[in-house]
Order: sequence, then C-alpha cells, then structure tokens
Amino acid sequence: MTGPSLHPDPWRDVDAQPNAAQLATTLELRGRTRAQARLRRRFLRFARLRPGDAVLEVGCGTGVVLRDVAAMVGRRGRVVGVDPSRSILSVARTLCRRAQGGPRITLRLADGARLPFAAGRFDAALAITVILHVADPLTVVSEMARVVKRGGRVGLQDQDFGVVAVTHPDRELTDRIMREVAARVYAEPYSGRRLPGLLLAAGLERVRLLADVYQDTTLEPFTKTFLERRAENAVKFGVVDAPTAQRWLDGLTALVARGAFVLTMNYYGAVGVKP
Ligand SMILES: C[S@@+](CC[C@H](N)C(=O)[O-])C[C@H]1O[C@@H](n2cnc3c(N)ncnc32)[C@H](O)[C@@H]1O
Repeated sequence: MTGPSLHPDPWRDVDAQPNAAQLATTLELRGRTRAQARLRRRFLRFARLRPGDAVLEVGCGTGVVLRDVAAMVGRRGRVVGVDPSRSILSVARTLCRRAQGGPRITLRLADGARLPFAAGRFDAALAITVILHVADPLTVVSEMARVVKRGGRVGLQDQDFGVVAVTHPDRELTDRIMREVAARVYAEPYSGRRLPGLLLAAGLERVRLLADVYQDTTLEPFTKTFLERRAENAVKFGVVDAPTAQRWLDGLTALVARGAFVLTMNYYGAVGVKP
C-alpha cells in the first residue's frame, strides 16, 4: 500500500516506494524495449553528442541512457549520471560496470535542482523522461544550463500524456482513464510539448525540436505494465470502479489476441545551446 503522504507519481521519490526494486526492473525493461531504444538513440543523435564529449545525465535511473552515451563519446569522453534515489543508483552501479567500449561511468547521488558541479563542466547535459516527474522543472533545467560550457547543449526528452492513442471498443472509457489518471499523477502531464519553452525560459538558444512516436502493436511488457498501472490508479483515484477497470483491461487483451492492438505515445525531444 502507498502511504497517504506519498506523492502519486512514484518517480518523485523512488526510495519511499514499497516497490522500489520493481520500479528499477520496469525502468530497465522499458529501456531494453526495441522501440524505446530506437527513440532514445534518435534523440541522442539529435543532441549531437560527439566522441570526447563530457556528458551529464540528470535522473539517470538504472543507466540505460548512460550506457548508450558512453558508446557514443568513446574512451576519451566522460559520462556522469546523477539521481536522487539510492536504490536506483545501486542497480545502475551494477549494470554500468559491465558497459564496454566507453569511459568509466561515474554515478552520484544528487537532485537535479542542486547539481554538485561547478559551472561550465560539461559539453552536454541531458534529462530523459525526468522533467515530467520533477517538482520544479525550470530550476532543474537552469541547473543543467549552469553546468554546461558556453556553446554546450542541454537536451530534454519527455512523453506527452495528452497524445496517447490506444485502441479499445470503449473509447469514452479509455479517454477518461488515460486523461484523468495522468492529470492526478503528474503536475504537468503535457510536459513533452512544453520542453522547447522550458529551454528558452532557462536562457538557452537555437532550440530545436524532435517529435517522435513510441509504437506498440503486441503489448510489450513495458506497455502492459503502463496500462495496468493506469487501470490500478483509475480505481485508486475513484475514476472507475474495480470491475470497470478489469473490463477495460480485458478489452485490451482481446484486441491483442486478434492482432488489432495499437498504442502510440508521442515523445518530444528538445535541445538548446548555452550562449
Ligand atoms: C522514469 S525515470 C528515467 C530514468 C532514465 N533517464 C531513463 O530514461 O531510463 C525518472 C528518474 O528521475 C529521477 N528523478 C526524480 N526526481 C528527480 C530530481 N528532482 N532530480 C533528478 N532526478 C530525479 C528518478 O529517481 C528516476 O530515476
């Protein structure tokens, strides 16, 4: 059971969650999903990471992004990940030790709103599916801007829960569950589309946007967990009762069995340059 004082978004404070270990497993599973790896790598190319770059990732989780970044910057590069969760970082320490072909990955316990680095230390600072979860996005992005060099890049990528399409015979129920659960869990469920504005507000220039789509037609384990959690939260928040939530999930399962399941979710990546 989640305690009454916990924020409804479990990523706000992973270590306070009774299922912290499961969150780490889900995160790693998501990162390894082929469509997710493709989205992430397209965004990293869009951020123009180069061999030899010093790169910081804020909210690095289990290190899925860090391992890709290490391969891109090579042995002459530097890769640092920070996260405020001790339990997530301990998983990252194990998984990042095995990363090959790049520099050693440094991991530090820190909140994105107070980065423990001097100004101008990095060529790029990234936050991937993190801004959506933080209490004060502008403070985090301003901190990222502070620690990159002049001419360095700040790159953000987030889902946008206003643009999730799911096939289901009951469209009204689907829209209600998706919209109302997202509104209760996230401070800004439409985070993705707001990323360019956030970079500009933090003083970055030459902001570019890459819109991309996560697509699933087979109900991948990550998508299944995502939808099950939506159903569970819909009951918890009183959006629907338990039998209705179960009927909704059964409707999705029936579509998968017929090969007619489709879920798409928009991802927005934005990169700005420090003047
Ligand atoms: C959904 S995960 C994304 C992890 C990783 N970037 C990835 O794409 O696999 C969100 C991460 O942000 C971290 N996080 C939450 N609040 C944060 C904050 N204020 N500053 C930095 N990281 C934060 C969480 O602990 C979690 O590891």
